[in-house]
Amino acid sequence: METVEFGQIQEQSYAMKESLRALRTNIQFCGDDIKTILFTSAQPNEGKSTVVFQLARSLTELGKSVLIIDTDMRKSVFVGRLRARIAGKKEIKGLSHYLSGQEPVDGVIYSTNIPKLFMIFAGRSVPNPTEMLEKKYFETLMSVVKNTFDYVLIDTAPIGAAIDAAVVGKHCDGAVMVVAQGEANTRAIAAVKRQLEVAGVPILGAVLNKVRTKKSHYGNYYGNYYGSYYGSYYGNYGNSQGTKSK
Ligand SMILES: Nc1ncnc2c1ncn2[C@@H]1O[C@H](COP(=O)(O)OP(=O)(O)OP(=O)(O)O)[C@@H](O)[C@H]1O
Ligand SMILES: [Mg+2]
Repeated sequence: METVEFGQIQEQSYAMKESLRALRTNIQFCGDDIKTILFTSAQPNEGKSTVVFQLARSLTELGKSVLIIDTDMRKSVFVGRLRARIAGKKEIKGLSHYLSGQEPVDGVIYSTNIPKLFMIFAGRSVPNPTEMLEKKYFETLMSVVKNTFDYVLIDTAPIGAAIDAAVVGKHCDGAVMVVAQGEANTRAIAAVKRQLEVAGVPILGAVLNKVRTKKSHYGNYYGNYYGSYYGSYYGNYGNSQGTKSK
């Protein structure tokens, strides 16, 4: 297995770390049968990719092995934003290479310079991502990785979010909705939620992201400007028990 080096990894502030710990704990309390989790949102830019990456790091700190699958085959941020590189300036092979039959599963899983964090990048962008995800290949991939890693976190694309989430979600143990404070559209959230329910994907909960925090007495913002992650009402969103509704 080749190793990818992330050249740029955002530091976690204290507030961010605390919120991620809360989210991590809530996920662990969903039960040990919840291993493959999809992250989606109603609108672009609410923070899915950021939450997936930072949560994955947080889980690895507990000694868990985590695989991130980037299913955004239109515009992957994992390679660009995190400056991912492999030795020899070779092309990083990703999900689209695997789904089009060009690479086997082990050809697209990379270890990273973060111990216990593994990646399947999106691969070269393709015009028909949803169709590709509907293929048997994706199901096969999920059944393989489920037994290999402690957690598999799946990042989804913003365009056609509801459809992709339903397609991918069918092969996951549950879904988490990322909602950015002040940006989210209630009707759109309800539509994504409905789509997941129709597809039979248990909704584990929601992450309220980009929380704006009040000014402290010292005139500074606590955390960064947008506030930080907050794993609030996790487990209370999909159903009242916060348990799997499969
Ligand atoms: N809690 C946060 N505080 C401050 N900035 C944040 C936070 N979460 C995300 N961001 C910023 O918001 C932008 C969008 O985040 P990100 O790319 O993770 O969202 P996304 O939902 O994956 O977007 P897309 O829908 O395009 O895939 C990025 O610039 C990211 O750095
Ligand atoms: Mg994203």
